Amino acid sequence: MGEGIFELKGKSAVVTGGSRGIGLMIAEGLVKAGVRVFISSRKAEVCDEVAANLSKDGECISIPADLSTASGIDHLGSELESQAPELHILVNNAGTAWGAPLEEYPPESFNKVWAVNVQAPFHLTQKLLPQLKAAASPEDPARVINIGSIDGLRVPALENYAYSASKAGIHQLSRHMASALVGHFITVNAIAPGLFPSRMTKFMFENEGAEQALASAIPLQRVGRPEDMAGTVIFLSSRAGSYVTGAVIPVDGGAATLR
Ligand SMILES: NC(=O)c1ccc[n+]([C@@H]2O[C@H](COP(=O)([O-])OP(=O)(O)OC[C@H]3O[C@@H](n4cnc5c(N)ncnc54)[C@H](OP(=O)(O)O)[C@@H]3O)[C@@H](O)[C@H]2O)c1
Repeated sequence: MGEGIFELKGKSAVVTGGSRGIGLMIAEGLVKAGVRVFISSRKAEVCDEVAANLSKDGECISIPADLSTASGIDHLGSELESQAPELHILVNNAGTAWGAPLEEYPPESFNKVWAVNVQAPFHLTQKLLPQLKAAASPEDPARVINIGSIDGLRVPALENYAYSASKAGIHQLSRHMASALVGHFITVNAIAPGLFPSRMTKFMFENEGAEQALASAIPLQRVGRPEDMAGTVIFLSSRAGSYVTGAVIPVDGGAATLR
C-alpha cells in the first residue's frame, strides 16, 4: 500500500522564483525526485546558471520572466504552452516583501507586493489551466501549490503591512481556487512557511548569534531547512497528498500556533 506513494518520476513542474531561497529548495527537491522542472525568475543569467547546475541531477529548464507584469506572465505562459503541454505541478513561490512604518508605507511598494504575491499566482494559474487540466485525472489530480507565509496567519512583529495582507490573501485565494478547480481534478493548497534563511530574511541573520536567538523563539528550536520545504511539496505533489485540497499548511516548527 505504501510503496511508491511519494513517487514523482516523469512529472513536469514549474517553480516560480526557483533561482534562490525557498524556490530553489523546492526545485532541487523536485529535480532529485525525477521531475522535469521549469524555473523562472527575473535575472536571466542567474536563472540559466541555476537551471544548468540543477540539471546535473536531472532535468531543469530556465524560463526567465518578470511576474510583476502582465507581459512577463504572458511570456512564461506561452513558453510553457509549447514546452509543457501537460503540467502536473505548479508552485507559485516567487514573492517580494516591503517593510516601512505605517505612516510612511509607500503606495508603489504596496502595489508591487500585491502584484507579485497575489496577482501573479492568480493570473499564472489561470493561464496554465489548459496544461494543468491536460495532466489531471481523478486518480492523480494536477497540483497547484501557493507559497503563503505565517505572516498571513498571525500579525507579525515586522511592519510589512502589504506583505502580511498579501499572504492572508493568497491563503484565501488558494481555498477559493481549490473550490473552483476541484471538479477538474486540480488540487490547490498553500504552504505557510515560518522562518527560512534566504535573501528575503538575510537581514534577520546578520548579527552574531542571531540564528540561535531566532531559533530559541521557535517551539521546535530551529529555523527551516531545505528538506522541510522540499518534503512538503513532494508530499503535496505525490499520491500521498492527492486527497488534500483547499488546505493551508504551516511549515514553521510550531511558530504560528504553539506556545
Ligand atoms: N524565507 C522565509 O523565511 C519565508 C517565510 C515565509 C514565506 N516565504 C515566502 O517564500 C517565497 C520565497 O521567498 P524567499 O525567502 O526564498 O525569497 P528570495 O530569496 O528573495 O527569493 C525570491 C525569488 O523570487 C524571484 N522573484 C522576485 N520577484 C520576482 C518577480 N517580479 N518576477 C519573477 N520572479 C521574482 C527571485 O528572483 P529574481 O530576483 O531574479 O527575480 C527569487 O528567485 C516568497 O513567496 C516568500 O514570501 C519566505
